[in-house]
Amino acid sequence: MRLIRTAADLAALPRGERRVVVMTMGALHEGHLALIRRAKELGDQVVVTIFVNPLQFDEAADYDSYPRTLDADLALLEPLGVDAVFAPEDAEMYPHGEPVVTVSSGVIGRVLEGAARPGHFDGVLTVVAKLLHLTAPDVAVFGAKDAQQVIAVKALVRDLNFSVEIATASTVRDDDGLARSSRNVFLSPDERKRALALNRALASAARTAEYGATLTTTLKAGRDILDAQDGLDVDYFAALDPADASEANDDYRGEVVLAVAARVGATRLIDNITTRIAPSAEGDQR
Ligand code: PAF
Repeated sequence: MRLIRTAADLAALPRGERRVVVMTMGALHEGHLALIRRAKELGDQVVVTIFVNPLQFDEAADYDSYPRTLDADLALLEPLGVDAVFAPEDAEMYPHGEPVVTVSSGVIGRVLEGAARPGHFDGVLTVVAKLLHLTAPDVAVFGAKDAQQVIAVKALVRDLNFSVEIATASTVRDDDGLARSSRNVFLSPDERKRALALNRALASAARTAEYGATLTTTLKAGRDILDAQDGLDVDYFAALDPADASEANDDYRGEVVLAVAARVGATRLIDNITTRIAPSAEGDQR
């Protein structure tokens, strides 16, 4: 496995048949490793990027305290058969300081997670665009857990004509259904039990949609579970059009992302599921 620190060395990396990139900010955990395993299935050359991107943090303190664990990350990647790790310094990525020209995530960046973190998705798309240019992959893999990020990246590639395929890796869940997140360690056993309502709500809503329900009925099935759970402070539970993250209304038909964010104690968790809205007269009577 080669460790590459500069854009020039990355450009000199011989290409495989099909290069797949996984972008990360390091501090790797099981969720990242699942992305890498997916990448291995999709191509013959896997490049992982590790870069803590200052542009996507709204608080300087969060950026400063973000864990930087390069040695441990490399030790996790080596046995997975990763071909190269691109881990540039800030000065390599932003040699002229904060970029003058950046990518706008438009409406996608102003809703849901973007409403809570203004500028976050612009920062993500700017670094993703740069890393796509630098790594020049055939495929880039992103985690389905960050549904809004996936929607934003797909829109970037579509709207700005990047020649790359965007693939997703399914959310990794613990046996009890809780989506893996580095924040789960902050949950007490009781909070963890409460947090399971997120997955239960999404699963119930998706099942309701599969029976042929309208979007309103689908959302109600999930909302009832969230409302019945004590000690859960729901930020949003919404149905999104995967094309642009706009909120779907009751006339909506087709693939939809059901997304939830909630605070359990001091910990904010997100989760989502993709389902299809294709109402049938019978389905909506359930
Ligand atoms: O998902 C992340 O870790 C980051 O947002 C990404 C895609 C690596 C961009 O910095």
